[in-house]
Amino acid sequence: MSLWSRFRRRERPTQLTDELRRRIRQSFEEAADDEEHFPSTIDPRIYHVQLILDYFGYLEGSRVLDVGCGKGRFARVLAERHPQAEIWGLDISVPMLKFAPPEVRTCAASMTELPFADAVFDAAYATESLEHAVEIPRAVAEICRVVKPGGRIVVIDKNAEQWGRLETPEWEKWFHRRELERLLRRHCREVSSRFISYWEDLPPDGLFLAWLAVK
Ligand SMILES: C[S@@+](CC[C@H](N)C(=O)[O-])C[C@H]1O[C@@H](n2cnc3c(N)ncnc32)[C@H](O)[C@@H]1O
Repeated sequence: MSLWSRFRRRERPTQLTDELRRRIRQSFEEAADDEEHFPSTIDPRIYHVQLILDYFGYLEGSRVLDVGCGKGRFARVLAERHPQAEIWGLDISVPMLKFAPPEVRTCAASMTELPFADAVFDAAYATESLEHAVEIPRAVAEICRVVKPGGRIVVIDKNAEQWGRLETPEWEKWFHRRELERLLRRHCREVSSRFISYWEDLPPDGLFLAWLAVK
């Protein structure tokens, strides 16, 4: 049985009720045992990682937030590459966070209510996690709120035009380029997006998009 087959497709909810939040959290608590679909490491040559490293650039002395970090596979690479940076991983699933390496500071919370003061991070990124936030404008506003003016934000997620290509739970949402650009522009001064693939030398197949923003 595939991971999401027990979630029947119906109208996507747009409000994160307590009950829905509980179900999402529970599904990702159970998913922590599934190393195949939710790996704890990532090949740092994968372009998704390279793009974040390149876009953020010099990070020594910086504080960076991985939003919906899962097992912290991206944060692990950032912490290895930038040992003088303070890397944070936030996720709603405590069992996922248990896989994060000790050099990554973890925090169990929802990205729709980040437990951080305004403008405390130099950079933030969300890889394949915003699609689960349900209240998308609220999550985007929260990510932008905690980043300092001039700080950089990366969102990597799936393209709404490819919807149906993969099995998804009922709450998941993929994004149109302009839709997420518009949401980011409410809070950020420079916003762009582009198609990306896993490997830099292969042309993108249209599934993944990266949104880049400067607050
Ligand atoms: C597909 S996994 C991606 C994990 C990680 N970003 C990666 O690329 O390995 C999605 C993650 O988002 C987390 N998540 C879902 N909804 C969330 C929310 N409202 N706030 C914080 N994390 C959330 C899940 O627990 C899960 O770990």
